[in-house]
Amino acid sequence: MSQLDVKAEIEKLRTDINYHNERYYVLSAPEISDYEYDQLINRLRELEQANPELLTPDSPSQRVGGRPVSGFESYQFKRQMLSLDNTYSEDDLREWDRRCQKLASGRTYSFVAELKIDGLSISAMYESSLLLRAVTRGDGEVGDIVTENVRTIRSIPLRLTEKPRFPLSSKELPKTLPEKDLLPLFASKVENIENDESLWPKAVEEIEVRGEVFMSNTSFNRLNQEQEEKGQARYANPRNLASGTMKLLDPQMVAARKLDCFAYDLYFDGDKPFQTHWQALEWLRAAGFNVNEHSQICATIDDVIEFCRDWDEKRNHLDYETDGVVIKINQIPLQEDFGTTTKFPRWAVAFKYPPRQAATRVKAITIQVGRTGALTPVAELLPVLLAGTTVSRASLHNEDEITRLGLKIGDWVMVEKSGEIIPKVVKVLVDKRPEIENELQEFVMPSTCPVCGALVIRPLGEAVSRCTNETCNAKLKEALLHFSSRDAMQIDELGDKIVEQLVDKKLVSNLSDLYYLKLADLLKLERMGKKSAQNLLDQIEQSKKRELSQLITGLGIRHVGERKARVLANHFGSLDSLSAASIEELTNIFEIGNTVATAIFNWFSLENNHELLARLRKVGVNFEQASSSTVAKIFAGKQFVLTGKLANLTREEAQKLVEERGGRVNSSVSKKTDYVVAGSDAGSKLDRAEALAITILDESAFVEMLDLNSK
Ligand code: IVH
Repeated sequence: MSQLDVKAEIEKLRTDINYHNERYYVLSAPEISDYEYDQLINRLRELEQANPELLTPDSPSQRVGGRPVSGFESYQFKRQMLSLDNTYSEDDLREWDRRCQKLASGRTYSFVAELKIDGLSISAMYESSLLLRAVTRGDGEVGDIVTENVRTIRSIPLRLTEKPRFPLSSKELPKTLPEKDLLPLFASKVENIENDESLWPKAVEEIEVRGEVFMSNTSFNRLNQEQEEKGQARYANPRNLASGTMKLLDPQMVAARKLDCFAYDLYFDGDKPFQTHWQALEWLRAAGFNVNEHSQICATIDDVIEFCRDWDEKRNHLDYETDGVVIKINQIPLQEDFGTTTKFPRWAVAFKYPPRQAATRVKAITIQVGRTGALTPVAELLPVLLAGTTVSRASLHNEDEITRLGLKIGDWVMVEKSGEIIPKVVKVLVDKRPEIENELQEFVMPSTCPVCGALVIRPLGEAVSRCTNETCNAKLKEALLHFSSRDAMQIDELGDKIVEQLVDKKLVSNLSDLYYLKLADLLKLERMGKKSAQNLLDQIEQSKKRELSQLITGLGIRHVGERKARVLANHFGSLDSLSAASIEELTNIFEIGNTVATAIFNWFSLENNHELLARLRKVGVNFEQASSSTVAKIFAGKQFVLTGKLANLTREEAQKLVEERGGRVNSSVSKKTDYVVAGSDAGSKLDRAEALAITILDESAFVEMLDLNSK
């Protein structure tokens, strides 16, 4: 057995054992008997004893037993994960620079200023260029091993294969160099200096990269929108959601949340490998990590202060949250000289921006009605300048939020901009109340819809109140925009201004009316020329040919997004069979749970929707799944991952072929994956599939499987 085989087997054993530990200890749902478990542990111990160099302190063989507290194993850092001392003013920064000057005793230095990303710090460790483990900061000494979750972050390479461009002269070569066969990325560099022992002090076994994991504002807002559609509570801010996500036990759920990471620190076997921090950042970027593009070298503390001032405003336009600037001494030898206190390095400091809050007054609380009929209370504010923009409205989300804040109409409040484009009310300024007591008014959620006058209900257990009128104009406008969106019927010309007018002018009162519009109708709209009117009509006409799944998406059935629509289209093959399905039949489908099934069933039970479908059918909207509907569901319940380039199929085609057969395509390999289809240049997913012993299909095997079974 080769060393690599041994290593692979050890890794597989460890992954399996950790998995079974979690099943046993955390989920109380073991999958294997104690005897089988003991056999795995014994085999691991045997291999580790024979290959002591492969033994790691976090190996499950090293555990004395006992229940892991968080569901994750802990990891003791070899080199502490430090935190930073905070400064809040320019004077503080100058003071810090003076201390640095003393410590430097005459030696010159520069600074690197980086945005301070508001997320959670993580350490990613690589051995033989493979991501071996990733650990949260924890208390700085011991963190949680969250490798599987970190694997879902695309900007953290699973394998360091990229050849980093070395921007260094020979003088500046790293102090340590990775071994040639272990790290192909260094191969070219190593060849040049192979004979020069002095440049080749020792081989690197472990590369550690530290950085900040965060969630973009876009992802955060999307997830909150989904929460709202489900009638569930909103997440507070992107940072909390990012760290909550990192603690999830299901990597598939983590993958769906789309975390990202900026790398900012690098160690080769526990040491900083370069002469300057800037070089480390360049290495990280070349090795495939995401390094924040706004980082900057500053020659003097004045330049640093300039950077901080500059970004106080500019940070408002980023798609991620920053709460300050981190300033680091660029010269590594000086960093090492300065050293650390028990908690902080002396060579770095955080400059924190004051929170982006402002005080203003709530003039009124109005109600907005969304596509699902949700009534959202909105605070109408006295306009106030906040984070570079004038704010005059803030979402209050729902009734419970108003109760939680104790807010009355007329109150003075603090508004804040966090991860959301829409600012939020953070608290009521109760101290101001004595002066305005008699001007205050309680908010009452209306019992009828402010748009259509229909009854409003708040379903039991939900935070959201909804309009009960299926044909409410507010709902209709949102429904039309959804119907014409990219994932649905793709009527790009139908923007919100047009929808607004079509509904207000009563030219459209349900989705199907779109297909009955005449040129003369459209010409009644403001700023609508003959040419654009005709374009719109042409697009509406073309949309009749969209795929069944797009139509299902477009109908806007609650809980049925693009993915579920495809599952339904593939399963039923026509809208008619879907509409006739019972709840039981629906729940029997892989991926369709009870809530979704009930929502679908209810939608098709409504009289209005029968009419809608009849009118869509009449104008010739496609209700059928293209030919493939006859394909047997041979992949029902099977999970696929596609990787690399296929010679005869695009990724979309391959995905469609799998889904038509009832399978599901995921983006990352996990224990639940059944097949990995590997084309040419397949990367780390293939390695992972091998490590987890998942069946790997090359293109011909995959095509053979499809052919065999579609006959
Ligand atoms: S350097 C010893 N750089 O801020 C150096 N930290 O308040 C330690 N952070 O724990 C970290 N952006 O989670 C560094 N560009 C950046 C950062 C950054 C965000 C976080 C990190 C750290 C915390 C300290």
